[in-house]
Amino acid sequence: MDYMKFILLISFLYAVIHILFSSLNRKNTKSPKLPPGPPCYPLIGNILQLDTSNLPQSLSKLSQKYGPIMTVKVGTIKTVVISSPTLAKETLHKNGPALNTRFTPDSVKALSHEEASVLYMAVSPKWNAFRKVCGTKIFSSQNLHSSQSLRREKLKELILHLKENCREGKGVDIADATFTTVLNSMSNTFFSVDFARYCSVSSKKFRDVISSVLVETSKPNIADYGSIFSRFDPQGARRRMRSYYQVLLADFESIIEERLQKKDPIEGSDVLDSLLEYTRKEKSELTCNDLLHLFLDLFIAGLDSTSSTVEWALAGLLQNPEKLKKTMKELQQVLSKDGELTDSDINKLPYLQAVVKETLRLHPPGPLLAYKSVAEVEICGFRLPKDATVLVNVWGMGHDSSIWTDPNLFLPERFLEGEDNLREDIGFNPFGAGRRICPGVPFAHRVVHTMLATLLYHFDWKLADGQKSEAMDMTEKFMVTLSKGKPLMAIPVKE
Ligand code: HEM
Repeated sequence: MDYMKFILLISFLYAVIHILFSSLNRKNTKSPKLPPGPPCYPLIGNILQLDTSNLPQSLSKLSQKYGPIMTVKVGTIKTVVISSPTLAKETLHKNGPALNTRFTPDSVKALSHEEASVLYMAVSPKWNAFRKVCGTKIFSSQNLHSSQSLRREKLKELILHLKENCREGKGVDIADATFTTVLNSMSNTFFSVDFARYCSVSSKKFRDVISSVLVETSKPNIADYGSIFSRFDPQGARRRMRSYYQVLLADFESIIEERLQKKDPIEGSDVLDSLLEYTRKEKSELTCNDLLHLFLDLFIAGLDSTSSTVEWALAGLLQNPEKLKKTMKELQQVLSKDGELTDSDINKLPYLQAVVKETLRLHPPGPLLAYKSVAEVEICGFRLPKDATVLVNVWGMGHDSSIWTDPNLFLPERFLEGEDNLREDIGFNPFGAGRRICPGVPFAHRVVHTMLATLLYHFDWKLADGQKSEAMDMTEKFMVTLSKGKPLMAIPVKE
């Protein structure tokens, strides 16, 4: 029996057992009133109606027909999709305790990562400890302030790299350049070391590994359909994930090992020192092994999201030359002649900030927030069963024409009006909401704005290969995050 037939047979048996048990249960209980949704086939559910390569858009289309709270079935798993700001608020805040457990794909369980993962573990004392160190020892204003000169060095290196391309009139793969800059900004903020040089083998290694982790996390995997399949890892996803994790963990391990060997550690001098000091405390909830898994999560969650935001922002501006001019003009007016930029200068750049917000509205790096209900809850008169997957469609809300005028246009100006437009109740929550809101916001805010400002202050840009701005390909590629389908290639033309 070949592999596919084996998988189909197992799926079939599982579905038969599942259907049998649910119909037996139904005899004794009142059928729960699930949110409405498209009719589905037994066994495969609504899979044929869903485009998994662009799930947020595909769910958004279905929601237009079935409403802002809808049920779809992915195989046999009930999935409730939320696409309105009010319902999202009710889901993430009011029903927090029942819904703030993240849906954990089987693949991420490699090396038991889910047991020490701030991204995936349930809200618990250990998760609280992870969040506490994120808030106080990694992303506090004081910490980020003291490491800003290191990140400024990284921006100077980015300028030097772009100057070379400028001299040669060569197109730059923007995603590649922004990725290396974020990678080194992060490694310097945490460990005071560089991880890679531009266009180097090590930069490619990190990009490949992070992208493989994201692809593996988003791929449909039969092991997510029940513990019987999970035990066998039939598609090998967990096995592959283990090898990606090992590459990253080996690097963190050697850095931690080296730091521990130091005879005379200068305690508290960078994030790693202060975290190691924390693990040595008598009643510390975290061990050195936990730190390894924390760094794994921070690099996985923070690298692609931050660098792709800068790529999308530059792409949006190159596609809209008027907006590009306006952003550059603001930078010329506000920054000093040398273009040296401190984190506090961001506050003086309202148009640049609006450009970033508009980018996050159109292309949120976390387009679907995925949770699992740990208890049955009621939302707007509908019952969300226990163990359902709950998806909050951030992308859908960002493109909803009942919330935004001309939702598909790049109009940063819409964010200049109103005093506080990062409010969730207007359907804008690119960093999530509730207890699981992104802890990396202060880092991402600084790095995205200063990098974009650096690109635009020091260079003019033109699209590579004679591309016209009107003809730019802005297709999105969904793999947990939302990348640019066709990488942006642009030439830095003059200083
Ligand atoms: C533009 C950049 C970024 C965006 C748009 C973004 C967005 C998000 C979103 C939507 C979530 C899920 C929140 C929820 O479920 O409610 C999240 C979680 C998370 N993010 Fe970010 N993020 C960014 C950058 C970063 C950075 C730079 C880091 C760290 C270096 C980071 C670390 C994390 C972690 C650890 C979580 C999981 C938190 C938890 O489950 O408790 N992110 N982020």
